[in-house]
Amino acid sequence: MQRTKVKELLAGAEEGKEVLLKGWVRTKRGNKYVTFIAVNDGSTIHNLQVVAEADKFSEEALKDVTTGAAVAITGELVASQGKGQAFEVQATRIEVLGKADPETYPLQKKAHSLEFLREIAHLRFRTNTFGAVFRVRNTLAFAVHKFFNEKGFVYMHTPIVTASDAEGAGEMFRVTTLDPINPPRNEDGSVNYAEDFFGKATNLTVSGQLEGELAAMAFSDIYTFGPTFRAENSNTTRHLAEFWMIEPEMAFYDLQMNADLAEEFIKYIIRYALENNRDDIAFLGQRLEEEDKSKPQQDRQEMSLLEKLEFVVNNDFERVTYTEAIEILVNSNHYKKKKFQYEVSWGVDLQSEHERYLVEKHFKKPVIVTDYPKDIKAFYMRLNDDGKTVAAMDILAPGIGEIVGGSQREERLEILVERMKGVGIHEEDLWWYLDTRRFGGCPHAGFGLGFERMVQFVTGMGNIRDVIPFPRTPQNAEF
Ligand code: 4AD
Ligand code: MG
Repeated sequence: MQRTKVKELLAGAEEGKEVLLKGWVRTKRGNKYVTFIAVNDGSTIHNLQVVAEADKFSEEALKDVTTGAAVAITGELVASQGKGQAFEVQATRIEVLGKADPETYPLQKKAHSLEFLREIAHLRFRTNTFGAVFRVRNTLAFAVHKFFNEKGFVYMHTPIVTASDAEGAGEMFRVTTLDPINPPRNEDGSVNYAEDFFGKATNLTVSGQLEGELAAMAFSDIYTFGPTFRAENSNTTRHLAEFWMIEPEMAFYDLQMNADLAEEFIKYIIRYALENNRDDIAFLGQRLEEEDKSKPQQDRQEMSLLEKLEFVVNNDFERVTYTEAIEILVNSNHYKKKKFQYEVSWGVDLQSEHERYLVEKHFKKPVIVTDYPKDIKAFYMRLNDDGKTVAAMDILAPGIGEIVGGSQREERLEILVERMKGVGIHEEDLWWYLDTRRFGGCPHAGFGLGFERMVQFVTGMGNIRDVIPFPRTPQNAEF
């Protein structure tokens, strides 16, 4: 007999039929006449209730049916008499495929803290919260491909091992096969990477953009979607050492077109999750409301999760220049009352407290900030005519801060070379990148969306460690 997933069973198509269901026991309760077993198989947030009557199943027969056990259950799918579910299964056969010793199984009926669940990340998929989070993550990933596919973008797999530092921030993980104790050395004592596996020093990529740009110069529109690595030692709720990024790159786009695409893209994938994971998002919203009750009034959310997402999908993002953003910040009461920890003045990078003030207090919606000072942005961003700013854009989201970073690219060879010199990048190292400016270069633009930050936004999860299956952060690479 073929197994049917819980999601389908709950939709009731097989009412009155004998069905086979497989999954994991969430709870078992009952009395001397009947036992109710809640089974979940990950296809939906909802459990299927299995009814085992005492005249068919002795206590002994059900002794291994405990929370966490894997079971296969046959029975008739019937309309439920009880509240809380439309359908249930009247069991005729119950087989325990894998026991879960109740003495040692770490997931019990009571609610566990997210911190505790992080320590048992190998089991946390089996909770309602993480079930919902990772189903939403899956839907968002699918929506990313769907969006770009519908627009005719080519999905490009850029390398994970590279010799370049695309962001110029020097936050790279070295990739090497040299003996760490006794590496080959140059005469001056430095490590001789010519003898390393790739014949040069290599690292895990911080961004697929530079290679993405090469492909855009042939396919017009491409995107990457893969893991990226940053050895920045920031232990925050928004940073991972290994995270996933989506980087579209478009030939013949300027900054405005780039911003338009980013806004359309973000709305599209949120809308797709709202349409396909409504129950999961509703559950995560309730979770947030519970969490909110323990917070002081002023820290509580003004909108529910669903309301927030609907709002974002249905309203235009705000657009301001960096210069305007600094003016807003400097003129704010917050600034006058000296409530910002970090300095605000033209030329400084916006800190997350500034970004959050702009989106959460001032505009109360996502904001696209453009035209940042050139000195705080990467070398590849196009220099504006003022000679001081570059055609950069960051998208800031409520509760998250920066979710997208992007720009129009510097397509003018001389200016690009000049900027590389300024930040100490050798022309020889990026000869292939510069070639695209020599041979058929054109105006182009692109951006990077931090996938985990996006998942945080849609699920409302406060810590980025809770939206990636196995987080990599400083001092932590368990599982
Ligand atoms: O702003 P970033 O550094 O931009 C780039 O890497 C460009 N090459 C993108 C492009 O134009 N193609 O990173 C892009 C986004 C950030 O806005 C943020 O959402 C996310 O990547 N991000 C991180 N997410 C989690 N952990 C980290 N350590 C992150 N660093 C950046
Ligand atoms: Mg950035």
